Amino acid sequence: MKILVTGGAGFIGSNFIFYELAKHPEDSIICVDLLTYAGNLETLESVMSSPAFKFIKADIADQQAIYTIFESEKPDIVVNFAAESHVDRSIENPALFLTTNVMGIQVLLDACRIFGIGRFHQVSTDEVYGDLPLDRPDLLFTEETQIHASSPYSASKASADLLTLAYSRTFKVPVSISRCSNNYGPYQFPEKLIPLMIANALNNKPLPVYGKGENVRDWLYVEDHCSAIDLIIRHGKEGDIYNIGGNNERTNLEVVQTIIHELGRGRIEFVKDRAGHDLRYAIDPSKIHRDLGWLPSTAFDEGIRMTIRWYLDNKAWWQRIISGEYQKYYERMY
Ligand code: NAD
Ligand code: DAU
Repeated sequence: MKILVTGGAGFIGSNFIFYELAKHPEDSIICVDLLTYAGNLETLESVMSSPAFKFIKADIADQQAIYTIFESEKPDIVVNFAAESHVDRSIENPALFLTTNVMGIQVLLDACRIFGIGRFHQVSTDEVYGDLPLDRPDLLFTEETQIHASSPYSASKASADLLTLAYSRTFKVPVSISRCSNNYGPYQFPEKLIPLMIANALNNKPLPVYGKGENVRDWLYVEDHCSAIDLIIRHGKEGDIYNIGGNNERTNLEVVQTIIHELGRGRIEFVKDRAGHDLRYAIDPSKIHRDLGWLPSTAFDEGIRMTIRWYLDNKAWWQRIISGEYQKYYERMY
């Protein structure tokens, strides 16, 4: 089987490529990525020379480029990770999020409709459901929870989900959607909470916690997200939505304190809250467990230790990122 993975030079996409090549050596992967600030070819170095892997630099919103790729490569499955993924950047510049996350998916869906596809899988997020109150631990997002996006990022992801379902109904494109909670693990760009805190602690910089650090996220080790997507694209029902999460809720303050404890260093600085900051995310993953037998295999305590170890062992990877363009953005933010 030939799997076209968009956004494969980013955090989750690259981990998915490693997972697929190891688990299904009979399959081949074509990675399409625009290499924005978040895409890093160095991450894919270990697979670049594999005969089962091919990299193509292209924008998912570039219709001509995408049609040419579909025509020449004839993929069996498309898994769309490509996106502008950072909420704070979407508050700074919403337009780019619409171009990639909405127009880009329309181009991909049209390509699937015109050239034919076995499955188009959209990698979505729990953020499309909006947020839950902090004082109602009994409430969880199910696949039936109404879409209620808060940020330009989540509104763009919700639009992509709606387009995916519309192409399924109107044009009979065989689709599936997964909505996952917060991922962490190797190769995550150091603008996101966990890698940013590790990098800052190691660089003797303050750890910027928004507001009082009371907001809650539901953390999942990235390899568990990859195993869930692998099951959905092979055994998931066409047209279905699957929530993915590990029942690992933590306040941001708890996460940052765990990192400080594990590293034995780091100083918290409470900073201005994010505009429209979602209070709590919590996924009910019972459907994917019941229908596909999926369960996460890494507990948070183990996953966070493995992640910290990875950032300690791969300082060159993230130190190179922290210089240059990212640095300019970082200086504007704090
Ligand atoms: P990321 O920012 O690390 O990677 C995104 C990748 O997409 C980069 O390699 C980038 O170069 C590429 N890209 C961006 N615009 C593109 C375009 N126009 N054409 C082609 N490639 C483009 O993101 P991530 O954290 O790996 O997230 C991957 C996907 O998973 C996203 O769709 C995101 O919404 C979703 N998701 C992320 C999380 C999370 O916790 N990180 C959780 C649930 C869902
Ligand atoms: O829930 C899934 C989503 O998780 C994905 O769809 C997004 O692509 C991904 O970026 C992530 O979104 P969040 O906004 O939850 O992740 P982020 O790492 O930006 O922030 C996590 C929490 O930590 C959030 O409550 C904001 C807070 N935070 C973040 C940063 C960067 C801080 O307190 N300080 C910070 O410096």
